[in-house]
Amino acid sequence: MIITIDGPAASGKEKISRYISKKWKLKHLDSGILYRRLALIFSMKKINLKNVKQIKKKLNEIENLSFRRSKKIRTQEISRIASEIAVYNFVRVYINKLQYEFVKKNKNRHGFVIDGRDIGSVVFKKADLKLYIEVNPEIRAKRRYKQLIDSGEKSIYRKILKDIKLRDRQDKLRKHSPLIIPKGAVIINNNGSFKVTVKQINRLLRNS
Ligand code: C5P
Repeated sequence: MIITIDGPAASGKEKISRYISKKWKLKHLDSGILYRRLALIFSMKKINLKNVKQIKKKLNEIENLSFRRSKKIRTQEISRIASEIAVYNFVRVYINKLQYEFVKKNKNRHGFVIDGRDIGSVVFKKADLKLYIEVNPEIRAKRRYKQLIDSGEKSIYRKILKDIKLRDRQDKLRKHSPLIIPKGAVIINNNGSFKVTVKQINRLLRNS
């Protein structure tokens, strides 16, 4: 069983995926981590993000990419770089391959919940259940602001809102695998409380 969860930046995909993973005993894969891990490598190696040749060379040198969550890949800077490199189709092909390998390697598992921007529309088109998470940009910015402040980072609400809108534009307008509502996806409105969202999701899962 594969459940895909797509939606814009800071829409709560990760929290929802982790909840589903725990409750329904499905293995979770957060594809955004892979884009962020690449972004971190490119940032540390000072790769010019406009230089395709340089990016391709660096990709070829990477032996394995970590799937681990970490605070250092959650910064605004890494978010921005991740979004910039996600426009390149060869980067997407590289990351999609890692996702297919992950599912193959864990095929003895009960099933998967995979979140990102193109999971239901491109990577796992034949998923059993596709969800698309929708939240207003202002609510997303408020939640992200609170998250950063709570974790001790300095943050400015207006800057976060601007960054979120920029990432939305980049994700929706890019040529390759733009963020869209996948065909057959159920739209989940996550403007309200997590409890309300979870109720909708559990109802769907019980019936699928
Ligand atoms: O989901 P998260 O915010 O961690 O993703 C970081 C960035 O990686 C996104 O802004 C998006 O540009 C890119 N991404 C993507 N496709 C995915 C997952 C993430 O383009 N499946």
